[in-house]
Amino acid sequence: MTAAPPSTAPALGILAVGAYAPEQVVPNAHYAQYLDTTDDWIVSRSGIRERRHASAGQTSSTLGVEAVRDLLKHAPEALDGVNVVICATSSPDAMFPSTAALIAGEVGLRGAPAFDVSVACSGFLYALSVGYSMIRAGLAKRALVVGTEVMSGVVDQNDRNTAILFGDGAGCVVLGEVPQGYGFQSFVLGADSAGGPHLYLRGAALQLPEGTEMGPHLTQNGREVFKFAVRKLGDSAEQAMQEAGLSTADIDWLVPHQANIRIIEAACERFGLPLSQAVVNLDRYGNTSAASIPLALNGAVRSGQIRKGDQLVLAGFGGGLSWGAAALKWWSPTLE
Ligand code: UT7
Repeated sequence: MTAAPPSTAPALGILAVGAYAPEQVVPNAHYAQYLDTTDDWIVSRSGIRERRHASAGQTSSTLGVEAVRDLLKHAPEALDGVNVVICATSSPDAMFPSTAALIAGEVGLRGAPAFDVSVACSGFLYALSVGYSMIRAGLAKRALVVGTEVMSGVVDQNDRNTAILFGDGAGCVVLGEVPQGYGFQSFVLGADSAGGPHLYLRGAALQLPEGTEMGPHLTQNGREVFKFAVRKLGDSAEQAMQEAGLSTADIDWLVPHQANIRIIEAACERFGLPLSQAVVNLDRYGNTSAASIPLALNGAVRSGQIRKGDQLVLAGFGGGLSWGAAALKWWSPTLE
């Protein structure tokens, strides 16, 4: 599915951004102590050097609340007018109440509609598109969109295929009206269950389809997901640009899902963009699933990499298998 806003509609974009990563740093050396792996293998195959893990008592909702508090530090008025809360997560505190409702209750938005979006690592892009659409349809004025994960809780810490890849964290944005010429220009979303068996996490089914075996942890066929990711990250980003009437030469920054530096490199090559124009933080945070894009976006905004007027394309992929991309002309991370 692709969509671009009508040219006469008010521009909608990101008004504020925030993020939080738990304090507990887990370096590759931690895994080398008890798994058949090495720091060299992890760095050369994925680019990841360390990730963060939640401490006892920290959950996706508490990480999300911290991200919103960080956003408020930079933009104290940002939640004024927010009347919907959407949370992308595949490690929710519970199936219900939603993680979004728990976050809303803690940040002064009790009573606003709040719900979770579950599309694994593509979740944040889907959640952005839902918030955008609700505002566009007149159902909301401003939307708080959070991506938050405690992946350390759903990954088997004794499985070297997955444990080394994932980390915990949260990021969030407030969506609303921005000056004409800025904001979202297109969304590209998709899912294909044919690739579903390559990446999955058990849900509530009492009985699974015959022949399906699901343990309690996230399971992944890394090679298959890798091939899919390289193709879809580049293609969906390109499609988002085309929908917006732009070409690769117009891009200032690609903000990709932070799964593996080799995936980002290959996608950039496919897309015709130098790697130096991709925002990368996976060396420090690993793959934080639905939190990875807002965490990367926040870092790039705070460090001054991304500036007002920059042309961005956000792009992700994940379980489903699913994908999502959006073209966005960056306005400003504070409410002016
Ligand atoms: O956001 C969710 C989406 N997930 C992803 O994007 C993950 C996509 N896939 C990947 O990032 C990569 O496939 C991995 C990083 C998971 C693996 O890298 P790879 O280059 O594709 O390695 P591989 O799966 O082809 O495995 C190569 C070898 C295997 O051994 P054999 O069969 O060649 O003897 C693995 O068993 O490396 C072995 N291996 C490891 N060795 C040391 C797998 N994990 C490890 C490890 N340490 N942690």
